Amino acid sequence: MNRILVTGGAGFLGSHLCERLLSSGADVLCLDNFYTGSKANIAHLLEQPRFELLRHDVTFPLYVEVDRIFNLACPASPVHYQRDPVQTTKTSVHGAINMLGLAKRTRAAIFQASTSEVYGDPEIHPQPESYWGRVNPVGSRACYDEGKRCAETLFFDYHRQHHLPIKVVRIFNTYGPKMHPNDGRVVSNFIVQAIEGKDLTIFGDGQQTRSFCYVDDLIDGFMKMMDSPEDLIGPINLGNPAEFTMLELAEKVISLVGSRSKLCFKALPEDDPKQRRPDITLAGKLLQWQPRVSLEDGLKETIKYFRGIL
Ligand SMILES: NC(=O)c1ccc[n+]([C@@H]2O[C@H](COP(=O)([O-])OP(=O)(O)OC[C@H]3O[C@@H](n4cnc5c(N)ncnc54)[C@H](O)[C@@H]3O)[C@@H](O)[C@H]2O)c1
Repeated sequence: MNRILVTGGAGFLGSHLCERLLSSGADVLCLDNFYTGSKANIAHLLEQPRFELLRHDVTFPLYVEVDRIFNLACPASPVHYQRDPVQTTKTSVHGAINMLGLAKRTRAAIFQASTSEVYGDPEIHPQPESYWGRVNPVGSRACYDEGKRCAETLFFDYHRQHHLPIKVVRIFNTYGPKMHPNDGRVVSNFIVQAIEGKDLTIFGDGQQTRSFCYVDDLIDGFMKMMDSPEDLIGPINLGNPAEFTMLELAEKVISLVGSRSKLCFKALPEDDPKQRRPDITLAGKLLQWQPRVSLEDGLKETIKYFRGIL
């Protein structure tokens, strides 16, 4: 059970996952087309004999022998997934079909990195897994949201039709070292702007809220989900329910960086959710998982990383 494929393994979450899997004794095959990922994220792993890197695009079929698959390949930030929306949908949908096909042939357990975006702009807070979501199917975020929704459908149909062991998690905003510095996500944006002494960009009035999960906590959740009994298939929310307004986050970042940056306000982008917070009751009950790292501690680690690369 030790040959593990990580698609999107050179990305932010994928590279942390590869590290964790290697330290648990697994053989890791990291697959990436480097659309948003980078070799720098995994350069330190290349010398390890149990680590292999494969340049490949998940929209094409893949023939390898593996025991477990973590399917993470997909650009995750709006800036990146909206740059080539057709490719984004293909990556989610064709990528899921190809990786599920591989799992079917090898009888590998397969994990899907789904997203809180499947809930769209929700009418209920916090969002439990039973909520079906409110997504605009023709908006500019739909390539990602609907692509991920379709991928979930495929996972559940492969499970029902072909009895594949699947594991689906819905990830809420996660941050930490190795995030892309220019991907427009709020934590990296604020930190980079604060370090460079630029004004922090707030969209709207800054009262919209988000919850932020530190990457180490999230990867703990991935490992627990993959190791859970076969009948636990999800979907399961993983995220940190502590909620902060964008104004609170901006002030925290400015104070931790020790910056003199001010705030600058811009119009809200289309379909930007007003509030987003996970209900993680199920993950607590079924996986005995809950996030442990405080926003302040997680931000300190992330700021240290960005100071190093900027
Ligand atoms: N980071 C978050 O807060 C978050 C939240 C919800 C869901 N997710 C999901 O988790 C996964 C990883 O996200 P991330 O934050 O690490 O993003 P990321 O952009 O850093 O990583 C995605 C990786 O997938 C690769 N990739 C993209 N298209 C590909 C393709 N067609 N073939 C092969 N590789 C491809 C990229 O090069 C990159 O290395 C994604 O599926 C994302 O939707 C992340």
